[in-house]
Amino acid sequence: MNFPNATSPEAPATRDRLGRPARDLRISVTDRCNLRCAYCMPEECFGSDYAFLTRADLLTFEEIARVARAAVSLGVRKIRVTGGEPLLRKDLPVLVGMLSAIPGVEDLALTTNGLLLPRLAAPLHAAGLDRVTVSLDSLDDATLARMSGRPIAAAEVLAGIGAARAAGFKTIKVNCVVQRGENEEQVLPLASYFRGTGVTIRFIEFMDTGTRNGWRLDTVVPSSELRDAIHARYPLVPVAPAIRGEVARRYRYADGQGEVGFITSVTQPFCGDCTRLRLAPDGSVYTCLFARHGHPLKPLLRAGAGERDIADWLRGVWRIRDDRYSEERTEETAGRDKVEMHHIGG
Ligand code: GTP
Ligand code: 5AD
Ligand code: SF4
Ligand code: SF4
Repeated sequence: MNFPNATSPEAPATRDRLGRPARDLRISVTDRCNLRCAYCMPEECFGSDYAFLTRADLLTFEEIARVARAAVSLGVRKIRVTGGEPLLRKDLPVLVGMLSAIPGVEDLALTTNGLLLPRLAAPLHAAGLDRVTVSLDSLDDATLARMSGRPIAAAEVLAGIGAARAAGFKTIKVNCVVQRGENEEQVLPLASYFRGTGVTIRFIEFMDTGTRNGWRLDTVVPSSELRDAIHARYPLVPVAPAIRGEVARRYRYADGQGEVGFITSVTQPFCGDCTRLRLAPDGSVYTCLFARHGHPLKPLLRAGAGERDIADWLRGVWRIRDDRYSEERTEETAGRDKVEMHHIGG
C-alpha cells in the first residue's frame, strides 16, 4: 500500500502558525538594477560604491531549481522571478526553462522594469514563461525619470511591453507605485492608456519597504481615492478574486474595456491570506516582505542537500512563520530594520 510521503501530491500542506499554506515562491535572481527608483533603491544610498552581491554569493541556477522543486513538494504552485531587475541576470531564459520544466509549477511569472524585454521577451516566452508584469509609474517622461532615478522615457518601457505582446505573452500586467506629490496625476492617463489594450494596470500603495525609502504615511495615496477617480471617468464593477490570497483588488470597466487592479497593502492589508515564500539571490529564505532577517539556506545547498532535505528545512521555516507586518504597521514600525526590496523582490 502506498502512503502519502513528503513529496506526494496527497501529503497535507504544511501550514504556518496562522494556518496559511505555502503556495507561491518568489525568487529574486539579482540585487542589481539598471534603475534607481527612489521608493526602492534611492541613488544616494545605492551609488557606484555600493557593494552588491558578487557572482560567488549568488545561487546558481541548479541551486535555485533545487529549492523550487523542494518548494513544490510543500504545495507551492506559483513561481515568480523577480530582482532587483531579473533581466540583468545572465542567461535568465535558461533558468526559466529549468523552472518551467518542474512538474507541479502551474504558473511561472516575471516582474521586470521592461527595459531589456525587446531583447529577451522572445527567448523567455520560448523557455516557458507564462506571464510578465512590467513596472511603469508614469507616461510623462520627466516624472518617470525623476521617480526611476535614470533618464528613461516612457516609450522605452512601452517598447518592452510591445515586445512581450509580440513574443506571444497573453497575460501582461503593469505595476504603478503611486506616491503623493509624485505621480498621482498620472493615474487617470495610465488607466486610459491601457484601457481596451488587454494589459491590466495595477496601482500599488507606496510601502515602507526596507530602511532607505523615506516612507511616510502622508505620502501614501489610498487606493480607494484612485478607484473613485477612475470610476468617475470610467464606471467600474468589482470582480471577485480568482484565487484565495490574490494581492490585487480587481475591477472591470463596465463598458467591457478590460480590468484595473489596486494593491492596498497599506490601507487594507492582505496578510491573512499571504501564502508567499521568498528566496533571495544569496540563498536566504524570507517569510515576509518586511522581515528583519532571512533564514540562510545556502550552507545546506552548498553541502549538497537533496530536494527532500531542503523540503524538510523549508517546512521547519514555514511552520514557525507568524508574519503579518502590514496588519501591524504604524509609523513607528516603518523605522525598524527590514530587508531591502531590491534584495528580496516585490
Ligand atoms: P499576480 O497577481 O499573480 O499577477 O502577482 P502579484 O500581484 O503577486 O505580483 P507582483 O509582483 O506584480 O506584485 C505586485 C506588488 O504587490 C508587488 O510588487 C508588491 O509591491 C506587492 N506585493 C506582492 N506581494 C506582497 C506581499 O506579500 N506583501 C505586501 N505587503 N505586498 C506585496
Ligand atoms: N512600495 C510599493 N511597491 C514597490 N515596488 C518597489 N518598491 C515599492 C514600494 N516601496 C514595486 C515595484 C515593482 C514591484 C517589484 O514592486 O514598482 O512593480
Ligand atoms: Fe529597480 Fe524595480 Fe527597484 Fe525600480 S522598483 S529600482 S526597477 S528593482
Ligand atoms: Fe505577507 Fe508580510 Fe506582505 Fe503581510 S506584509 S502580505 S505577511 S509579505
